[in-house]
Parts: sequence; C-alpha cells; structure tokens
Amino acid sequence: MAPLARLKTIFLSLVHPWLFMAYSLYYLPGTVLRLIRQGDFATLSSWPRLQSAWFSAFWAWAGPRVRQNAEPRVIPLLEGRVQGGRQVQSPAHPPVSGIVAEVGPGSGMWVDLFRRRDGGAGPAESVERVYGIEPNVGVHTELRKRIKDSGSEGVYEIVPVGIESLADSSKWAGKIEKESVDCIVSILCLCSIPEPEKNIKELYGYLKKGGRWYVYEHVKIDRFPGMRLYQALINLIWPLIIGGCRLDRRTGRMLVEAGPWENIDLEQPDVQWYHSLPHVYGILTK
Ligand SMILES: C[S@@+](CC[C@H](N)C(=O)[O-])C[C@H]1O[C@@H](n2cnc3c(N)ncnc32)[C@H](O)[C@@H]1O
Repeated sequence: MAPLARLKTIFLSLVHPWLFMAYSLYYLPGTVLRLIRQGDFATLSSWPRLQSAWFSAFWAWAGPRVRQNAEPRVIPLLEGRVQGGRQVQSPAHPPVSGIVAEVGPGSGMWVDLFRRRDGGAGPAESVERVYGIEPNVGVHTELRKRIKDSGSEGVYEIVPVGIESLADSSKWAGKIEKESVDCIVSILCLCSIPEPEKNIKELYGYLKKGGRWYVYEHVKIDRFPGMRLYQALINLIWPLIIGGCRLDRRTGRMLVEAGPWENIDLEQPDVQWYHSLPHVYGILTK
C-alpha cells in the first residue's frame, strides 16, 4: 500500500469508534423528543429502556452500513466458506442449516441470508427454523418487516427475551430444548449480553452434538499495549453510547472454553496494530 493510503487507513481506523459514537449521540435528542411527544415517560425515566429506544433509532441507520462492511465476511461465514480466519472458495464447513438460533439479530440485518431461494449469496442448504433471540422490543418492528420481506414468515420466530432468560417460562411462553439446535449464529452481539462467560456456556448447552457456532464478534485487544490502552479509553464511554456494547470482552476465549469442541476454527483476521475493534471469526463444531 502506498504510504499516503496507509496513513489514511490507519487514521480512519483510529477515529472510526469516535465517529460511530458521534453518530449514535446524534440520535439521542430525537429519541427523547419522540418519547416526550408519545408521552412515554416510563421509557424516559428508565435508563435501560431509554438506552434501548435510543439504540433502536441509531441501529436503523447504522445497521445497513455495518452490514455493508461486514457482508464480505459474514456471507462466506454462513456458507461455511471460512478457514483459519480467511474466506475460501469451497466450503470448509457445512453451511448454516436445520434449527438455527440467531443471537441478538437486532433489526434483522442478516435475516434474508437464512432464506435464500433466488440463487443469491447466502447458505445454500435449507434452514428449517430460526429463533431470533432479541430482547430489545424497540427493534422488533424492523425485524418483523425484514422477516416478511425475506419470505421467512413461519420459519423465523422472534424470541423476545435475552439469552439469559431463554429457559425462564415466566418471561417467554415458548421453549427451546437443550441440545436441540443445529447452528448458533452470533454476529456482533456477544459484546452486549450480560455475564458473557456464564451465558455463552449456557448457549453451548443448546447446541446438538455435531452442531456448529458461526461467529463474527469484535473483541478485546490483547497485543499492542498502546492500542490496548486506547481501546480501554474508548470503552470508558462506548457502552453508554452504543447500547451497552462492550469492547473489553475476550469472546474468543470464552467460546473456546464454553465446553468440549470437536473442531475449533476461530481466528482473529485483523492482525494489524491499528484496529481498535479487532474481530474473532470462524466456526466451532461441538
Ligand atoms: C450491535 S447489535 C447487532 C445486531 C445484529 N446482530 C447486527 O449485526 O445487525 C447487538 C444486538 O444484541 C442484542 N442483545 C443485547 N443483549 C442481549 C441479550 N441478553 N441476549 C440476546 N441479544 C442481546 C441487542 O439488543 C442488539 O440488537
């Protein structure tokens, strides 16, 4: 890469988290005004509810942009065309199929990939059922719309609780049996769940033997001390502004330690020092 282009890449990568937070902040006054106009003082007086409403408004804007950036990684991932943190031509793993649990689908940016019938990009094998485990009701209208638009009604079911409440019949009328899920898909969401170590282990329990976990998550920086400090600095305010998302999670390690795996193909593809949001990427097979 030419020196000037490289400098630009480094600069953009370093300022990206601040820009992302600035865009999110832009949606706060509008959210508050809307809630006042609607007389929704219950949401206004509860920080978690206000934060969820704010995040929903922000993600309606950010979601499609995040999808555009992440698509070159996520589509091959769901097709099983990933090995050692890189996209490969022929599948190295089976594609997403059978009974699927999508953790934190948000506004449904990836919903269409579970029901490709038009020869477009996405898993070729059939998906029987998808449970979209999404506690933020503020995004459900958009999620429902994307389910309808992708022709996934009757296949894609919204589970309106957090993964920590999956087995709690007082919070959700349905039930997912342990060891009944063929595939778990987690895309940029394990950064937001509570008690990640405990809940990732809990999710592992829902996978069948031979089931697969498709992962694309941003994680804590472990190398590069200066960047570790920079990320820690951003993380002081990031969770407040980005809907409770945390930058300081060792999600890769937590996944590997969730239980015994038959195969672990999980890597960090963002090896350059200047990534403030490096990712783990790959497929684990139980
Ligand atoms: C950054 S968004 C990503 C949404 C989507 N995966 C995407 O790529 O567009 C994180 C999502 O995780 C959801 N989330 C937060 N806590 C959760 C929990 N306890 N269980 C499941 N999902 C959760 C949030 O509501 C949010 O929709």
